[in-house]
Amino acid sequence: MNSLIDMILTRHSVRQFTGELIKKEDLDIIVKAGMAAPSACNVQPWAFIIVTERNILDTLGQKLPFAKMLDKAGAAIIVCGVPDKDKQYAKKFWTVDCSAATENILLAAHALAYGAVWTAVHPEEDRIAIVRKECEIPGNVVPLNIIPIGVPANANAKAIDKYKSDNIHYDRW
Ligand SMILES: Cc1cc2nc3c(=O)[nH]c(=O)nc-3n(C[C@H](O)[C@H](O)[C@H](O)COP(=O)(O)O)c2cc1C
Repeated sequence: MNSLIDMILTRHSVRQFTGELIKKEDLDIIVKAGMAAPSACNVQPWAFIIVTERNILDTLGQKLPFAKMLDKAGAAIIVCGVPDKDKQYAKKFWTVDCSAATENILLAAHALAYGAVWTAVHPEEDRIAIVRKECEIPGNVVPLNIIPIGVPANANAKAIDKYKSDNIHYDRW
């Protein structure tokens, strides 16, 4: 099978990591993949915080209810939206654009044999406040999610097959 299709079909959320660190050059490739995503009118209303400091990973893991796996992640990427990046498109489309970037990041991590998972921040105001404080994010920038990345603890974990023909319509509903 085409290797990209194979990567898309085998990607799955990984929540258990060995604790090993992630090479800086791999993190650079992963973020570059995020930036390659499409965005409305190519405004690219995003910014990426690469978190490698152990104390920040641990603090975020302790304070965020659904991101406990940060304690064993080798790094994390916080995908942030910049709704005031332009006057027209970013405000309307930043969550969509940043979601496209997020999927690229998840796929790139998978292609490099790391595990990763989307953990939600926006639109939960309490989570936004925690991440904003810990990572000193300015008020005009909104963290959409945190993506813990690490070496998977279980090398045999598999993707769920989500193919459902009921969800497909040809020509008309
Ligand atoms: C918007 C969004 C928010 C999510 N939030 C969390 C989260 O906070 N914590 C978590 O462990 N997984 C989170 N996930 C991952 C989903 O649980 C996961 O993608 C889903 O169960 C399908 O599994 P898969 O990624 O292995 O295909 C989130 C996914 C999306 C798209």
